[in-house]
Amino acid sequence: MSQAPSTPDSREASPGGPHRLALVTGASAGIGAAFAERLARDAYDLVLVARRRERLDELAERLARTHGRRVDVLVADLTTSEGVRAVEARIAAEPTLELLVNNAGFGTSGAFADLDCDGEEEEVRLNVLALLRLTHAALAAMKARGHGSVINVSSLAGFQPGPYNATYSATKAFVNAFTQAVSEELRGTGVRLQLLCPGFTRTEFQDVAGVRTEGIPDFAWMSAEAVVEASLAGLRSGDLLVIPGGGNKVLGALLRSVPSAVARRVGGVVLRRTLGK
Ligand SMILES: NC(=O)c1ccc[n+]([C@@H]2O[C@H](COP(=O)([O-])OP(=O)(O)OC[C@H]3O[C@@H](n4cnc5c(N)ncnc54)[C@H](OP(=O)(O)O)[C@@H]3O)[C@@H](O)[C@H]2O)c1
Repeated sequence: MSQAPSTPDSREASPGGPHRLALVTGASAGIGAAFAERLARDAYDLVLVARRRERLDELAERLARTHGRRVDVLVADLTTSEGVRAVEARIAAEPTLELLVNNAGFGTSGAFADLDCDGEEEEVRLNVLALLRLTHAALAAMKARGHGSVINVSSLAGFQPGPYNATYSATKAFVNAFTQAVSEELRGTGVRLQLLCPGFTRTEFQDVAGVRTEGIPDFAWMSAEAVVEASLAGLRSGDLLVIPGGGNKVLGALLRSVPSAVARRVGGVVLRRTLGK
């Protein structure tokens, strides 16, 4: 697990303003990279976490140069205990961490019985266990200080069982229940949790999940930047649940109100066709 400041003196006081630190997991692509861009613009110093060092180094160098922030890179595979421990240690070493974005995640698609079980386990390790442990690591110092925020990136897929997406939607259902419950425990502490539930977002996610996207209409998609915009607006207004985009809000409300038996039958037919499984 290597850890490399993006500039030699990156631990010095930031020239761009007061010290506000955010740690973003999954910052090498998609929504995580968009969070990093936006937070650097909003004068946060950053720790960027993912596996692909080159991508992180390039982003860190550009953000440090453009926005004058301290941007550090921490290369870690969050499906491994070693990787999670390295990020936990970094969080513990940053008592002024203001924002943790638990964004790293991936999906698989296909009938569960036909999928490689090791891949399904890795999905649970990343989407569930890493998020749980890093949230725990951040909350101790945040509670003691009486402020700080954690954004847990979930999905509309977490609102109902998702046939042909079974493990993915189950991991996101965990994130939904967990984030809402812990948020309640934090009432009155000054520490906030956000449950961010995007719909289809143009990133590398679908490629990684092996999902065919031809059947998904244009209007259903959002950009990663728009998702981040909605999340940070929700953070400013203290919203626990953020569903970016009008269409997604309607879909989210529908998914939460439809009986599970109906949702999974309809979902099974629609997802099999949409995902090409
Ligand atoms: N895109 C969508 O349609 C959509 C919709 C709803 C929710 N989401 C959620 O949004 C989050 C971000 O996804 P995205 O759409 O931005 O996907 P993406 O473009 O594929 O980015 C995923 C990020 O996670 C990192 N990652 C993957 N495996 C990792 C591991 N083992 N250890 C550490 N980092 C790892 C990747 O970096 P490396 O490969 O460099 O490690 C990458 O930075 C996920 O939690 C996803 O479930 C996405």
